[in-house]
Amino acid sequence: MTFLRVCVCVCVFALFCSGAQGEYAGLAAIKAYLNSMGERSRTVCLIPKSAHGTNPASAQMAGMKVQVVEVDKDGNIDLPHLKNLVEKHKASLAAMMITYPSTFGVFEENVRDVCDLIHKNGGQVYLDGANMNAQVGLCRPADYGSDVSHLNLHKTFCIPHGGGGPGMGPIGVKAHLAPFLPSHPVVPMHSVNASSSLGTISAAPWGSSAILPISWAYIKMMGSKGLAHATEVAILNANYMAKRLESHYKVLFRGQKGFHAPTMSWPVSGTLMIEPTESEDKAEMDRFCDALLGIRQEIAEIEEGRMDSRINPLKMAPHSLASITSSNWDRPYSREFAAFPLPFIRPETKFWPTISRIDDIYGDQNLVCTCPPMEVYESPYEEKRASS
Ligand SMILES: *Cc1c(COP(=O)(O)O)cnc(C)c1O
Ligand SMILES: *[C@@H]1O[C@H](CO)[C@@H](O)[C@H](O)[C@H]1NC(C)=O
Repeated sequence: MTFLRVCVCVCVFALFCSGAQGEYAGLAAIKAYLNSMGERSRTVCLIPKSAHGTNPASAQMAGMKVQVVEVDKDGNIDLPHLKNLVEKHKASLAAMMITYPSTFGVFEENVRDVCDLIHKNGGQVYLDGANMNAQVGLCRPADYGSDVSHLNLHKTFCIPHGGGGPGMGPIGVKAHLAPFLPSHPVVPMHSVNASSSLGTISAAPWGSSAILPISWAYIKMMGSKGLAHATEVAILNANYMAKRLESHYKVLFRGQKGFHAPTMSWPVSGTLMIEPTESEDKAEMDRFCDALLGIRQEIAEIEEGRMDSRINPLKMAPHSLASITSSNWDRPYSREFAAFPLPFIRPETKFWPTISRIDDIYGDQNLVCTCPPMEVYESPYEEKRASS
């Protein structure tokens, strides 16, 4: 794999248990490096508005002061605003964190200029590499100027991370930062210089080592050509989906030449960011687009007053088997439509949701204690004993 092979020559890798821990370790290494150069007063970390939420949290934990950089209408870093901030903080500039492609899904076109500007003003560049599945085999972060990058093996390199873990966020650093990487007081780490090291970060120097064979096997089985191909297909799929949906939904950010939404989430309120990845085939992508177009049609029915604004297929979805078969059906749309809204949803293939909509916000705002006090268990037992 081109990216890893080249990086191993110029970089040193260290392992951490999540992307956020990699960020913290990388920033702490930058801070230790700056301190060793007699630049202790460099504490400002610039972070674009489009960054992942872990970025400012990690910078804060690494003892840096966060300054937010504006983003322009295409989702790129606002260069004039960045230049102003750099000018204002040049004596205290420690680092800039860049997510590439950004959390808005666009490839920052000025990424090299941004890195040069930071370096010219005495700062270091942290590239948040969680979105490497739009880059593996095609580009190398060190080339466009980053000094540290993490890779989320639990995103790009196949480790499943549903339900919050376990994660694996190794970082690669350029040679000048290597002496400052974390060490360990018990386990000897030969590649690390104990006298300059920033100290210990996670309990083990190996990270979540038990899951590493997954990434290893994935890389081995894909090979360098396969990995580059997966990247190309991931970018193609994201752009194909945007093209199919563009005349029905507003596409918020797409850069000048194309984009790659990093994950499925809600980075801008009122929007949904979707990353189809390389793993779905065209038929599945089409089914997904058809479903989104169908939902858009349901919205239009409400907009145009043909459907009730409260009781409609969109707001009453998902329709469980119990609701469809209930003898009391009093909705202004048919049972058929509720159960089988599109031709590809057939009785043989339908996946029935077990429950209808949950009011998540109600649950968040009204906490219910599910652990009753001890007495609830105690008294019936006592009574039983007394009566027997
Ligand atoms: C997921 C993600 C992170 C954080 O990674 P964790 O392993 O969840 O800590 C950081 N940056 C970006 C862009 C991400 O997508
Ligand atoms: C280790 O770090 C110390 C302190 O920064 C430095 O003096 C020494 O030369 C380093 N050793 C190596 C092998 O890099």
